[in-house]
Amino acid sequence: MSSNSPDERSLVLIKPDAVRRGLVGEVLSRFERKGLRIDAMAHRTMDAALADEHYAEHVDKAFYPPLKDFMTSGPLVALVLSGDQVIDVVRGLVGATDGRKAAAGTIRGDLSLSNRENLVHASDSTDSAKREIALWFPELG
Ligand code: CMP
Repeated sequence: MSSNSPDERSLVLIKPDAVRRGLVGEVLSRFERKGLRIDAMAHRTMDAALADEHYAEHVDKAFYPPLKDFMTSGPLVALVLSGDQVIDVVRGLVGATDGRKAAAGTIRGDLSLSNRENLVHASDSTDSAKREIALWFPELG
């Protein structure tokens, strides 16, 4: 990306396990200390319809029903982050899906022992970021 390009955006969810465990500040501070900007932030509870849309690529997978139960089980914090190469940068900060295998130093590696209750969702490409931001923050479109 050239220095003249507008910064990328990523849709991040601080999941219900992080809210229940009092880790919202810890997770947010890692993004802030990295130098990323918070363009939007909302405390919301995902309903079943939003879960099916957000996780459209996973709805047929065996892990989806318990994932949906978990993601709709309580409030979460939805964020739009921006910054240079934010999608890859955030995925690096978050770590591998399975918290048991994620590298130490990452959010999941330091704070999660689960491949479902893994604290954070982050967009995995510019296309998914666009789609997810439109779902969660249509006013930013
Ligand atoms: P996320 O980044 O939100 O994208 C899909 C989510 O599904 C993932 O984080 C995990 O919470 C969950 N997930 C992915 N793979 C598995 C799995 N094998 N078993 C249980 N949950 C999973």
